[in-house]
Amino acid sequence: MNQDYRACRGSMQPSFYDPEKSYEENFDEGPFGLFADGKVIEHQGEPQTMFLGQKVFLPFGIPAGPLINGNFVKGALDKGFDLAVYKTVRTRQHPCAPWPNVLAVKVDGDLTPELGDEGVIADHSYSQPLAVANSFHVPSSDPDFWQQDMADSINHAKLGQVVIGSFQGTVNAEGNIQAYIDDFATAAKLVKEAGAKVLEANLSCPGPGDGRLLCRDLELTLRTAEKIKNEIGDTPLVVKIPRFEEQGALVKFATTLSPFIQGISAINTIQSKIINPAGRPAWPGEGRMMSGIGGAPIKWAGLEMTKRLTELRDEYGLGYTVIGVGGVITADDYCQYRSAGADAVMSATGAMWNSLLAQECSKARPPAALRGDRPAHEMTLLTSQMGLRTRHQGPHPDDLTLRYMNV
Ligand SMILES: Cc1cc2nc3c(=O)[nH]c(=O)nc-3n(C[C@H](O)[C@H](O)[C@H](O)COP(=O)(O)O)c2cc1C
Repeated sequence: MNQDYRACRGSMQPSFYDPEKSYEENFDEGPFGLFADGKVIEHQGEPQTMFLGQKVFLPFGIPAGPLINGNFVKGALDKGFDLAVYKTVRTRQHPCAPWPNVLAVKVDGDLTPELGDEGVIADHSYSQPLAVANSFHVPSSDPDFWQQDMADSINHAKLGQVVIGSFQGTVNAEGNIQAYIDDFATAAKLVKEAGAKVLEANLSCPGPGDGRLLCRDLELTLRTAEKIKNEIGDTPLVVKIPRFEEQGALVKFATTLSPFIQGISAINTIQSKIINPAGRPAWPGEGRMMSGIGGAPIKWAGLEMTKRLTELRDEYGLGYTVIGVGGVITADDYCQYRSAGADAVMSATGAMWNSLLAQECSKARPPAALRGDRPAHEMTLLTSQMGLRTRHQGPHPDDLTLRYMNV
């Protein structure tokens, strides 16, 4: 199937990552579509919105995943995605799962965890409401390659744009937990060395041991975050998490991690069983039955987490920045996230099939009442509950005064 055919379905453009091509072909030949047209969007004036110590024009961008190397990051920056996350890297080369790595899924309405467990049908035909499953197994090139590539893409960023470096640790064959934590921290150090001004730890990856997602093991997560923060010092650390079902678990997570992190990006995809139209597993190979779904059907969960995280921040006087992710397909979705309290918003699936999404969002304005007038508790510094506060916690003081003055 060629890209033009798929592009004709609904109002979608060809994706800048072509799901019909292998990961390697995308890596070598991409990005595609409008990301490859050479046109650069120029912002006018001065950036006004603070994002983790950096001024940006629009607190909107593409989260970890679709921007698989520096060429994709540059394509995103050129099209006005002022926040661009370089896809999650590791301390060593790691292979990609076999093709296909992205499939279209059909979900009627909201994707609940229960529906995901029942199974969702996937095929190669992309249409609205846009939703995709992905299964890559977080491939990475060797740091010798990605450090230079990431540095090039950071240098490409213009005034008011930020490239965020995403990373994770790799589980070792011995199941050595300390070695895993050390590997995570080494990945952070390498990303910082590449010049990233903001780092993002992917805590939505399977940890060592029982295969649970790392963020579901609070003690291990805390040890990992502490080690990373010691390694990167004042550089802001964002953590990427999936939806937490249990409010109690989310409260513990946020309050425990808060001294070590400056931002929370939520949500990652919703894990689901992916089957083909014949009812068989859609992905070839072992261990791929469950994979993550992004796009329109998970917007409810991303918005819900945004609200819960901002409310928690207010209630406990925490200082993290909230990056709302999940099902942002239109400029109106961007506004809904901003209205829900997100300091920044990102779109993976929606942006893949609409390279103009950032430009559309830049013309939209969230309702005025929701743009400013944040209560003073935003400036509260957490000292009580934990009795433990590092100088790294909380936004830069400039953030506190500027964050809500601008959209
Ligand atoms: C093709 C693709 C690859 C992804 N790879 C990663 C990744 O490497 N690391 C990560 O933290 N999230 C990854 N994600 C998850 C996205 O960052 C995002 O959290 C999720 O897709 C929900 O956003 P969406 O509804 O806009 O797609 C990936 C998503 C997609 C669609």
